[in-house]
Amino acid sequence: MAFSDVCKVYRQGEKFLVLNPTVPSWLVTNINGVLLLKLYSEEKSFESIAEEFRVHVPEFSSEAVLKFLERAKSERLFSKPTQLEDYKPFPLRDVYLNMTARCNLRCIYCVNNLRVEERRELSFEDYRRVLDEIAAMKPAVEIIITGGEPLTSPLTIPVAEYANELGLKCTLLTNATLINADNFETLTKLFCRFQISVDGSNAAIHDFYRGKGNYAKTERAIELLQNHGAEVKLMMVVTKRNMSDVANVTKKWGKMIDFQPLFPTGNANYDALKLSGQEYFDAMTNASEDIRLYEFLQTIGKHYATKKTLLKCSVGEGQISISHSGDVYPCALLHNPKFKAGNITENTLAEIYNSPTMNRIKFHTADHIDKCRDCEFKLICGGSCQARNFLETGDLDRAGDFCEYNKLAIIHELINTVELSELQ
Ligand SMILES: C[S@@+](CC[C@H](N)C(=O)[O-])C[C@H]1O[C@@H](n2cnc3c(N)ncnc32)[C@H](O)[C@@H]1O
Ligand code: SF4
Ligand code: SF4
Repeated sequence: MAFSDVCKVYRQGEKFLVLNPTVPSWLVTNINGVLLLKLYSEEKSFESIAEEFRVHVPEFSSEAVLKFLERAKSERLFSKPTQLEDYKPFPLRDVYLNMTARCNLRCIYCVNNLRVEERRELSFEDYRRVLDEIAAMKPAVEIIITGGEPLTSPLTIPVAEYANELGLKCTLLTNATLINADNFETLTKLFCRFQISVDGSNAAIHDFYRGKGNYAKTERAIELLQNHGAEVKLMMVVTKRNMSDVANVTKKWGKMIDFQPLFPTGNANYDALKLSGQEYFDAMTNASEDIRLYEFLQTIGKHYATKKTLLKCSVGEGQISISHSGDVYPCALLHNPKFKAGNITENTLAEIYNSPTMNRIKFHTADHIDKCRDCEFKLICGGSCQARNFLETGDLDRAGDFCEYNKLAIIHELINTVELSELQ
């Protein structure tokens, strides 16, 4: 391989990210490192590259130049492209149980647009059957209990109790406004983790989305749970209106809070609230150096060394979502008739998990998306969030606007988290 035919270089100030997209592998270096790497070709020995470089830049010793080339080699920058095998899905890991479509709040952007309160909900017997099947299938699966607001369902506690009896771990996704001094102890015994929605650092911002008085209730519940030693994570939906508050929530809650951009679904007045990929990137990076945009980047090298398959989001393989009436979808944000893979009152979960509808999305990788097929970030980004692609474009095979964010975020994260290898 010749360096310039394969590798890409991205700059941030004095730092340069050198990416070999075909492995994928990378190095973060200074300008001299880039000038040296540009001379690389597999036909030349390191010694001859070092000599050629030193004719132009004599101030570096041969040892320093050779050491740098060895370092780049050990980072697999000159390695052959990974021969990808056919896509092998990950095992099922998270099952979302949407206990109800009912909710005590009316958040202005909510994905849960059903609002048909009399619509049939699953019975405890239905849940018992599905939990028995999950426990027999895969005891390491985690149950994510959500809704609507799960704490408005009389079955949330009995279902969590039964899941615990089977040894299944449960997480509760909640607005937390119904957590109080009477129920928090029971809840902390049943749920190993709480994910609580918080849309701003103060009542004025949070209540604009979630209704008057709710910030105070949510904040009180967070305190109650934390004082009791519960694991609490917060989730903020970022929109055009609250993006400037990301810095404040980060200051207030640190690593407890995670973010996701508004999805174009449900009740969202999307045009008024939507963010571009660039705006979301700016909101995240301007807020704090501590926000990690791609937590998993450092594991990618390992992934290719062992699995050698394309990376993709876990939709339909690592996760599935069961609606309050038993319909099963590949993701909690993709409850769309097109992706309904069955109903747990009519089919076993195993049948649904292996159905043609679920398999189609399970095996839908970046290679199926025109824009992604030849993208230099394909092996890192994996074609982005499939639910988002579909919701933005109406087509699973088309990349949505957040492609822009993915590119910016990957470059930013690599440059800022990978140890600098300077030629000096
Ligand atoms: C549907 S709610 C259910 C649990 C609970 N009622 C709550 O608000 O946390 C689950 C998560 O989805 C988020 N959500 C709702 N609508 C969304 C949308 N259009 N885009 C992105 N996230 C959304 C909520 O903010 C919440 O964090
Ligand atoms: S986001 Fe949660 S709390 Fe808000 S309306 Fe939707 S289900 Fe209810
Ligand atoms: S979504 Fe964008 S960055 Fe990601 S693989 Fe596709 S084209 Fe590349």
